[in-house]
Amino acid sequence: MAENYVWIDGIPVPPVYFPPEIIRETHETFMVRDGDIFMVTYPKSGTHWLIEIVCLIQSKGDPTFTKSVPFTERSPWIEMDESSKTLRNKEGPRLITSHLPVQLFPISFFSSKAKVIYLIRNPRDVLVSGYHFWHATTYIKRPESLEEYFENFLQGKVPFGSWFEHIRGWMSQRERDNFLLLSYEELKKDTRNAIKDICEFLGETLKPEELELVLKNSSFHVMKEHRRDKDSFLNKDSFLSKNETYFLIMRKGITGDWKCHFTVAQAEEFHKIFQEKMADFPKELFPWE
Ligand code: A3P
Repeated sequence: MAENYVWIDGIPVPPVYFPPEIIRETHETFMVRDGDIFMVTYPKSGTHWLIEIVCLIQSKGDPTFTKSVPFTERSPWIEMDESSKTLRNKEGPRLITSHLPVQLFPISFFSSKAKVIYLIRNPRDVLVSGYHFWHATTYIKRPESLEEYFENFLQGKVPFGSWFEHIRGWMSQRERDNFLLLSYEELKKDTRNAIKDICEFLGETLKPEELELVLKNSSFHVMKEHRRDKDSFLNKDSFLSKNETYFLIMRKGITGDWKCHFTVAQAEEFHKIFQEKMADFPKELFPWE
């Protein structure tokens, strides 16, 4: 069944998974604890990869847990209907995922010591990844073409709104000690060092052989194999099976795929808009071409 968005304070969300009343309640009343670890992303930025890495760090590279327990149980999305309730009663330390823009995040976070890892990705690749995902599923009205999705993306008429605003909002937190900014591109280019940065931020230490296990078990290839048939995945109201949905998420796992999708005119238009909207941020924050 095709669903359109519900708009919450100007942010479009697919209500099948993210009921507006849960988002509002979470924003106003969810009690963040100091020991909580949040993984926050704009959708299609590598959320599942980050969850896998953090879980594997906690298990010292042992994949038993990541292989057998779905993402939504290991690190529930705070804004999802079921998980929001489960999380409130969960013993700490809690791993929590979120796509919420900063202005809809739980108010209690801002006076807590809870940690946030904010993962960003080249918005061009986010766009292409999102197009393939939303085109093949029925959570929102399906974009019929990349051209249509491209325009929607630039106008922020895609799940969780404008990429530019999401990033601008969360970047306001980047000087905080409990905030780690990471990029998909850094993770791809030097996964080992990025994992070390995450460990340092979380106060975790890994022996060299444990680090190797985290690397191996969070690789695209191994993640894709591990999940087969096992996950209780995002298949609610979708015509796809759980397995098919998972394979849509684990699509290519590369950087720069946008170059195979954008026309020259689209690349120029995107570049111009990016320059305008992100002009006040240092270029080094965005390590992609
Ligand atoms: P592509 O569609 O470009 O392949 P999210 O988890 O936020 O929905 O993001 C999904 C994107 O992360 C997909 O991008 C997926 O392939 C990529 N991804 C997931 N696991 C990965 C891994 N281990 N290594 C590299 N990319 C990964």
